[in-house]
Amino acid sequence: MTGTPERRAAFLQEMGIEPLWRSRAAPAAPAAETQALAEPSMPVIEPVDAFGDLSVGAPLAETLETGIAPATVTGQSEVAHMDWMQLKSTVAGCTRCGLCNGRTNTVFGVGDEKAKWLFVGEGPGRNEDQRGEPFVGQAGKLLDNMMLAMGLRRGANAYIANIVKCRPTDETGRDRPPTSAETAACIPYLERQIALIQPSIIVALGKIAAISLLGLDAETPVSKLRGTVHRYADRPLIVTYHPAYLLRNMVDKKKAWADLCLAMATYAGLC
Ligand code: URA
Ligand code: SF4
Repeated sequence: MTGTPERRAAFLQEMGIEPLWRSRAAPAAPAAETQALAEPSMPVIEPVDAFGDLSVGAPLAETLETGIAPATVTGQSEVAHMDWMQLKSTVAGCTRCGLCNGRTNTVFGVGDEKAKWLFVGEGPGRNEDQRGEPFVGQAGKLLDNMMLAMGLRRGANAYIANIVKCRPTDETGRDRPPTSAETAACIPYLERQIALIQPSIIVALGKIAAISLLGLDAETPVSKLRGTVHRYADRPLIVTYHPAYLLRNMVDKKKAWADLCLAMATYAGLC
């Protein structure tokens, strides 16, 4: 088990979260006494919170179409057969879309390459671009705490990746969501990561991750994405709020926890 019960309890308390679920074995167990859900002996949990009709993820900026550089494109089928080393070095030198021009570092992903849990974000921000690692800024700290509350830790039975590997910025240099063209150019890398990792469950952080992985129209009502167990490549996928959104909308942390409880209950059902 990773993370102490005290730290997990502190995270839940900080967010003003009452236990939103109860164990079948021990109804209304206090959060501090919950088991790490990665452990096979844990009780099955039941989310008891009603899911709201609220938007998911960071707000979408205007779509800026970025062309795919044709000459240096690595074929999608080639990517689909790469091993970890080939994949990492291909991403490091990738020029498949215009995001290669502004990057400091590509941000490949981090964690246990045999993880049961995969968390997928949108794309690197400034901090991640500087460090070459996903979710290292404030949103990353919150994600770490969210995972800790689930008994997970980056690098230990969890992998964190993004839809795009290079930082998207607008004309003023601020972070923006990736366009559909950038997503289409980059997603074969994530698909290959998923095929290599073979996670048991995927948590899509925010709307971009959800619609990209599920192949949904950007206009899909977000109220339809949360509170449902979706499927991606024959495994469950749960949608929750992006941590950056949660930092701006503290009130929705409770709902994010309900989403994570759904994810944990789904994972428990797989064991
Ligand atoms: N937001 C994301 O979606 N991914 C990161 O890596 C950092 C912030
Ligand atoms: Fe290549 Fe993805 Fe970076 Fe675009 S975002 S240059 S496809 S690694």
